[in-house]
Amino acid sequence: MKRILVAFGFLIVGFAFVVSCEHDKKPHEKIKPVDQTTALQSKYARQLTDRKFAVTPDRLARGKYLANGILFCFNCHSKVDSSKPGYPPFPNMLGSGNLWFDKDSLRFGAPNISSDKETGAGNWTDDMFARAIRQGVGHDGRGLGTMPWTGFRNLSDEDLASVVVYIRSLPPISNYVAPRILTKERELRLQNQPRPMSDDPVSTPDTSTLVAKGKYLIKLSDCEGCHTGWYVRNPGYFGGGNLVGLNDTEKVASPNITSDIQTGIGGWDDETFIRVIRTGKSGTLKFAMPWTQFANMNDGDLKAILAALKTTVPVNHRVVNGLKPTLCPVCGQMHGFGDQNKIVNSKPVQGDETLFPNYAGTYVNDSVHDTVLIRFKNKKLWITQGQVENGNLFAIDKIKFSANNLPSPISFIKNASGKVIALTDYDLEPVVYQKIN
Ligand code: HEC
Ligand code: HEC
Repeated sequence: MKRILVAFGFLIVGFAFVVSCEHDKKPHEKIKPVDQTTALQSKYARQLTDRKFAVTPDRLARGKYLANGILFCFNCHSKVDSSKPGYPPFPNMLGSGNLWFDKDSLRFGAPNISSDKETGAGNWTDDMFARAIRQGVGHDGRGLGTMPWTGFRNLSDEDLASVVVYIRSLPPISNYVAPRILTKERELRLQNQPRPMSDDPVSTPDTSTLVAKGKYLIKLSDCEGCHTGWYVRNPGYFGGGNLVGLNDTEKVASPNITSDIQTGIGGWDDETFIRVIRTGKSGTLKFAMPWTQFANMNDGDLKAILAALKTTVPVNHRVVNGLKPTLCPVCGQMHGFGDQNKIVNSKPVQGDETLFPNYAGTYVNDSVHDTVLIRFKNKKLWITQGQVENGNLFAIDKIKFSANNLPSPISFIKNASGKVIALTDYDLEPVVYQKIN
């Protein structure tokens, strides 16, 4: 489970709504250069390099396809047309940036990344872009918020090069987006948030099967960050129940997109899925779901995404936006159909209790920056993932365990001599946590 994603989802909640009401431009004269000597620096800003990505027609085309599709850059980095369903970016404003919020001494927005030299990114280097995309560090070294780098860091080296080449080819648009002003606490949290300190190579993804290709795309845009109920009670990865979007009175719950046939997308065929993404359910899907951008993807990629979603662990949890929100026992949030959902507990089976003390310990996965703690207390096992207490672990078959508030079952891995060395959780792909004590 990725706690960083939670932060991403949270900011969307706070800021997305203002996109719709931001029409008045800041006067151009107000340009103030950010003071490089006092600007806050991420503790984890890696050194910039002088690499350059060669411009080729293939890269321009691939970069355009990715940036305007699965990576949805311009949902954020452009002025959007709030008179149209899904708030698509204005086609002549791609990269202009958009100031979302400037009120009560707080200010936030997506910067101008077009090639304009005064108000945009005309003077930045290729590696400044690469670092922002893969590590979430700005051209000036500040740790970025809301910029979805935790998904983007999965971009293969060639796809990264393509995106940078394409973004740098955007025509200059003069639009001043004033620097962010956050609370001191949030500012500190961003500067202290761990980020990869090196830019490790990412090889070309396996796209030999529909499922493999779909998984690559799903990781890039982090469907899971929005479509998992991280906050009150987590019904499962991709199981929905995260309140995203507009404002306090107009929040919309992310639906369940797991393989569950009754309440998820398990029963959808290609045609249905493609129609929903292309039309945003005839224009009823809110801006919080970047469907106006995903709609630009080709049929093959959309089919791949559906095929991969159908491999997820099914979660029984129905979310229907548009109905009056009611309290849902499954995710603990208010959403349409909420009170008609029931917690379907996995059936406990008899576990080998003599082994329980061997399972206790700390388990870590460095690549998702996450820790799982297993404790043995009162003859039972207890699990804490990240900072969330997930409750009492019980066996659900010979090797798998579950707990009430755990996003997926887990299983313990033993070495040849029977010693517990790791555990696995079942995300889009199984994630292995090594036991460190
Ligand atoms: C969900 C909204 C969102 C999406 C999608 C998004 N960004 Fe960003 N991006 C932001 C925000 C917000 C910031 C500024 C964050 C801050 O100042 O804390 C940012 C910062 C950046 C920066 C650093 C700007 C600087 O001042 O140094 C670059 C470069 C960038 N984004 C490029 C991209 C590209 C390229 C894509 C698509 C591949 C993309 N972004 C997708 C929201 C987004
Ligand atoms: C920034 C948050 C966000 C991201 C990223 C996101 N979604 Fe969504 N998605 C939502 C929200 C919120 C809704 C509900 C919108 C509404 O009902 O108005 C939604 C709705 C949907 C729906 C319609 C489901 C239904 O039953 O109505 C599908 C399908 C979907 N998303 C798939 C995806 C896929 C696949 C991805 C990744 C490629 C993805 N989403 C990424 C927030 C997001």
